Amino acid sequence: MTSISHNSASAPKMSRRDMLRTGTIGAATVAASTVATARAGMAQSGAAAKELEGKTAFITGGARGIGLASAEEMARAGANIVLFDIATREVPHVQYPLSSPDDLAQATARIEAHGVRCLAVQGDVRDLQAQEDAMAEAVATFGGLDIVLANAGVSQAGRIEEFSANEMSTQYEINVAGMVKTTQAAVPHLRANGGGRIIYMSSGLGRVGNDLFPVYTSTKWAVIGFAKSAALSYGRDNIMCNVVAPGLVRTPLADNPVILGKMLPDHPAPTFDAVSALLEPGNPIPVGHHKVEDIAKAVMFFAGDATRNMTAEVLDVSYGSAARNIG
Ligand SMILES: NC(=O)c1ccc[n+]([C@@H]2O[C@H](COP(=O)([O-])OP(=O)(O)OC[C@H]3O[C@@H](n4cnc5c(N)ncnc54)[C@H](O)[C@@H]3O)[C@@H](O)[C@H]2O)c1
Repeated sequence: MTSISHNSASAPKMSRRDMLRTGTIGAATVAASTVATARAGMAQSGAAAKELEGKTAFITGGARGIGLASAEEMARAGANIVLFDIATREVPHVQYPLSSPDDLAQATARIEAHGVRCLAVQGDVRDLQAQEDAMAEAVATFGGLDIVLANAGVSQAGRIEEFSANEMSTQYEINVAGMVKTTQAAVPHLRANGGGRIIYMSSGLGRVGNDLFPVYTSTKWAVIGFAKSAALSYGRDNIMCNVVAPGLVRTPLADNPVILGKMLPDHPAPTFDAVSALLEPGNPIPVGHHKVEDIAKAVMFFAGDATRNMTAEVLDVSYGSAARNIG
């Protein structure tokens, strides 16, 4: 298990302006900046409270992609946000670059633009202590923890016999054990809160077999099995555990030369749009991929009041491909 720098209460804090100027995040907490809150504005205008007003949402892998879009959706609904992300471009045994420190800084600014507070933490989901520290700081900063989105994940494409032991264990340590550790770190705070939500990011590939993403597919099945087990374990603690299972989504996880090259090996210039166009005719609706906003709406569904008594559910957001799933 690789431990990247993580949050520490004693670490020096940089202002967001410094962070953006230097392009660095530092080894610890990078920003906990307060802006004029939407709540203050609403109090003046007499507007109705937003659905997640006063709540705190912790998002792993929140510096870009589905995690960031989901964080923005919850920020729009009034939640304060914690973005926990490895924010390290080159990670051993991952086939494409992950987020940068600058991505995390920019994501923080995007969240704050919604008038809520944002705490950004550079950390690795493989490091339980880092997640425990980050959640403790979230509770100290915002007064509690209500919603956790276990979203950080990496993909790898290739034939079964091509994967090295390190590549396999990296996917399992991040995609599966990472989400187990997110749960371990979150549950004491959610219990103390009287309950809450954990939303797990699986995939349409967690519903079927796939010979191009065999190891990744197996991790995404594991996410569903674990989420249902968590639902059984924590239902009496009023902690709802649900899963979102997206089809292809336009993010750097899929839209990068390595993965696209493996998906379209004979294509002279494989593009995300070419993959989407290939998928589209086989789908029940004329859609070949989803936008991150489509997935964020499903996350918001499991974060909001409508699902206060729903647990162990899997919501497919996969252009209707679930029509061909057995169960
Ligand atoms: N994009 C798709 O087509 C698609 C489809 C189905 C499911 N998913 C799932 O959605 C989730 C988010 O993926 P995305 O498409 O937004 O990818 P992405 O690569 O754009 O974003 C993933 C984020 O997670 C971070 N991350 C990766 N490993 C980490 C670690 N060890 N610790 C902390 N942060 C880490 C990355 O830095 C990045 O910011 C993943 O679990 C992925 O498997 C994606």
